Amino acid sequence: MKGVILAGGTGSRLFPLTKVTNKHLLPIYNKPMIYYPLQTLISANIKEVLIISGPEHAGHFLNLLGSGKEFGVKFTYEIQEKAGGIAQALSLAEDFSNNGPITVILGDNIYEDNFSEEIKSFEKGGMIFLKEVQDPERFGVAELNGKNVIKIEEKPKIPKSNYCVTGLYVYDNEVFSVIKTLKPSKRGELEITDVNNYYIDKNAMKAEFVKGFWSDAGTFESLIKASNLIREKIN
Ligand code: G1P
Repeated sequence: MKGVILAGGTGSRLFPLTKVTNKHLLPIYNKPMIYYPLQTLISANIKEVLIISGPEHAGHFLNLLGSGKEFGVKFTYEIQEKAGGIAQALSLAEDFSNNGPITVILGDNIYEDNFSEEIKSFEKGGMIFLKEVQDPERFGVAELNGKNVIKIEEKPKIPKSNYCVTGLYVYDNEVFSVIKTLKPSKRGELEITDVNNYYIDKNAMKAEFVKGFWSDAGTFESLIKASNLIREKIN
């Protein structure tokens, strides 16, 4: 299994912190943000990692992370010329995937769990990881029937549950042909939620639940919450 970290985007919700740098280089307590999703992939036994970022800061990721030797993995870098959404960024991983399955993590998602068992068990279709939250309207939200996901809505005004779809996904190689059929959403992006709904409609999506803490870090509140969670955890 290969892994992809999506570290592009404008980070507009964190402006002016992101005026001259990339969101994923900002600190979460004592490390740059991207170290955490990287660690999530490494602890899932993923040895080859593609880092996708925008042209302005790609060199900074290279300076920070290098070849991957220090981490015991191999890094590849890819440039997203223009921010066009998570699914558009993921489409850039097609060659890297080499026709195999792929684990994708958003560069601002901080997890406590180790997902090695779930990822090892992956065979085909898709896999998502849900977490109960207080503010589901900020996320992709799962509509559930028992433990089965019947639909995901991206940032719904009236969420159908408190279970959000966190930023870790596993897909088979069909994902790249699915992305080619997507149309931009109202916010002008190719949405990962549309990819996920494709797999749900095909009855090919497995949903797992995140047990330990999880936070995104793309807003001022979540950035400080994630820092505090890490500080509590390691001290
Ligand atoms: C993205 C996804 C959303 C998901 C979230 C997790 O939202 O679109 O479905 O729940 O990441 O962090 P964004 O952070 O781009 O608004």
